[in-house]
Amino acid sequence: MNIGLIGIGTVGGGTYRVLKENADEIFNKIGIEIKITHVADKNLKLAKDTVDKEIIIEEDAFALLENSSIDIIVELIGGTGIALDIVRKALESGKHVVTANKALIAMHGEELIKIANQNNVILAYEAAVAGGIPIIKSLREGLAANKINWVAGILNGTTNYILTEMKDNNLPFETALKQAQDLGFAEADPTFDIEGIDAAHKITILASIAFGVPIDFEAVHIEGISNLNQKDIRYAEELGYRIKLLGIAKSDKSGVEIRVHPTLVPEKRLVANVDGAMNAVLVQGNMVGPTLYYGAGAGSEPTASAVAADIIDIARQSKLSNKTLIPTLGFMPDKIQKKNILSIEDIFSEFYLRFTMENKAGLLAKITQIFAEHKISINSMVHKEVQEDNQNPDIFLITSKTKESDINAIINEIELLPENIEKIVKIRTEDLKK
Ligand code: HSE
Repeated sequence: MNIGLIGIGTVGGGTYRVLKENADEIFNKIGIEIKITHVADKNLKLAKDTVDKEIIIEEDAFALLENSSIDIIVELIGGTGIALDIVRKALESGKHVVTANKALIAMHGEELIKIANQNNVILAYEAAVAGGIPIIKSLREGLAANKINWVAGILNGTTNYILTEMKDNNLPFETALKQAQDLGFAEADPTFDIEGIDAAHKITILASIAFGVPIDFEAVHIEGISNLNQKDIRYAEELGYRIKLLGIAKSDKSGVEIRVHPTLVPEKRLVANVDGAMNAVLVQGNMVGPTLYYGAGAGSEPTASAVAADIIDIARQSKLSNKTLIPTLGFMPDKIQKKNILSIEDIFSEFYLRFTMENKAGLLAKITQIFAEHKISINSMVHKEVQEDNQNPDIFLITSKTKESDINAIINEIELLPENIEKIVKIRTEDLKK
């Protein structure tokens, strides 16, 4: 199999090294020689410095698409601009495509899958979700016999690194972000990481494979971590929780919910203890029960490991007459069906709320009265000690399971109390048990 590699940056360089260093290992497993014959990158010097002399280097990626000796195009430039043109044209010209581009699949997956199917070629994207963790393979193949109830995961290494540093080393948000950028995990535009967009791209893809729904990025409710206060990380710990940026997708009779937001997770859950830039994905299948996948979600070699696995899969399937043996989204294309997407207002959670209010007699009574009127019970509540007369207490609580629209109504009423000083902090919790 001849490979044309487009983009020789962090993941491209890693892919080159993985295929070279593990060439014997891979050959022993598949009996087919995989050869990178062409590389395209705007940075010709970087390309020359990275790959061996016999490999043809082009500045123009489109030159590779016209070359009939290339079987697989590996797109590792990212984004939804030129990468979209490249992938579209590669599939149209009958080449298989491997990509690590989550934004591309989340935004244009439906169109690209159609083109791949029409041309009897494979569009493979294992590296687009959770880097080195084979979560696409696990969902599409290993768990194929299950109806998937829900998927929840730490899908962004940068934000997990930031949250870990804020918790363990008391680092301010900006310093932790800078460190993640220096380590090479962050997106070119780090707002994609910290505002939850990168995780949303990934959970969009997972939801589709899990439930057999069309890829629909617009369906995701997205909140990032940029407004998260160190205080809430500390108070969550006092209540026995850790705050993680989770991508969550659930499906039941009422519909499908897909969301990304900071989430309180009970500290005893394994996923609550996944720290640093690591990723983890929990999948609940109706037969297998809960399963957990853990590994590096970013970085050169881990992501390249997934890219190379896709190349290996394509090489194996290329021996078959029907090359699209495993449907791109794990379901037969005519069985992908739209389902009702629930609005965030209709979702049920337990909520962490923190109040900043003047210290007046009867304050707690007023707060709890509003909860009582809405018939919502409080699971736990903390009123921090007030050491000086003019100090405002920190009050935080966890509600029982409540519809989001009901908790919003309560928040609106409490914020109208004369004692209220600041916007109430609201963070959803997830038990992740069943
Ligand atoms: N920026 C991403 C992350 C890279 O931090 O997880 C991997 O998709």
